[in-house]
Amino acid sequence: MTQASRSASHAAYLERMGITVWVSRRTEPASQAELVPAPVPVGQADHAAEPPPALSPGETAQAPVDGADAAWETLRQAVAGCTRCGLCDSRTQTVFGVGSRSADLMVIGEAPGAEEDRRGEPFVGRAGQLLTAMLVALGLPREQVFIANILKCRPPGNRDPKADEVASCIPYLREQMRLLRPRVILCVGRVAAQNLLQIEQPLRALRDREHAFEAGDRAIPVIVSYHPAYLLRSPADKAKAWQDLKRLRPLLKGEQR
Ligand code: URA
Repeated sequence: MTQASRSASHAAYLERMGITVWVSRRTEPASQAELVPAPVPVGQADHAAEPPPALSPGETAQAPVDGADAAWETLRQAVAGCTRCGLCDSRTQTVFGVGSRSADLMVIGEAPGAEEDRRGEPFVGRAGQLLTAMLVALGLPREQVFIANILKCRPPGNRDPKADEVASCIPYLREQMRLLRPRVILCVGRVAAQNLLQIEQPLRALRDREHAFEAGDRAIPVIVSYHPAYLLRSPADKAKAWQDLKRLRPLLKGEQR
């Protein structure tokens, strides 16, 4: 695809999303290579000391690179059979996460909704379709990123996750991060951001700056934006969400992995 046709298709997606794009006379950089990396993130979340999820005896997710597939499979099975919290009683199935295991971008949402619970895949309902369109507009087809949630099971009635449910489930997410080693994380919505970063600020404040998730040997930059379900209810804020997403571009170009 040429740059011109890529831009045209991105513009079409943005239009479908209801975002008006103002193009300056000085055209946007033609490629990510021309974008200047943002400053190194600051943040204070530190989950590095917490243990990985407890797997069944004999199982291990501590695999070297050539055992990465086995580690992913072990983790997937551990999630599929999880009974660590009460949500296992009401779920149809667990929602592990989906996407490329070599993705540079990891998108983290809150928890599966009804459609996700039915299909076993995150962000497949209306909100998910909007998220997918926004990623495509950024030049990132859904299959090139990895999408997961703080919780792997649907809370009944889509209520907010409870603290004990998050505590039980988040080690799975951290293990996914350890295996994936994303360059950047995008958190969508207040609940996802507060639980990942362990800070209790309103979304407005969380969106204001870049955060860092301390992942053992390095800090992963975290950008926070609106949840797509909110954007469906408040389309006027889509333009602000688009500004948030554009902050991912220079970070995705970073050297570290
Ligand atoms: N909302 C989320 O936060 N995650 C999903 O997977 C679907 C809707």
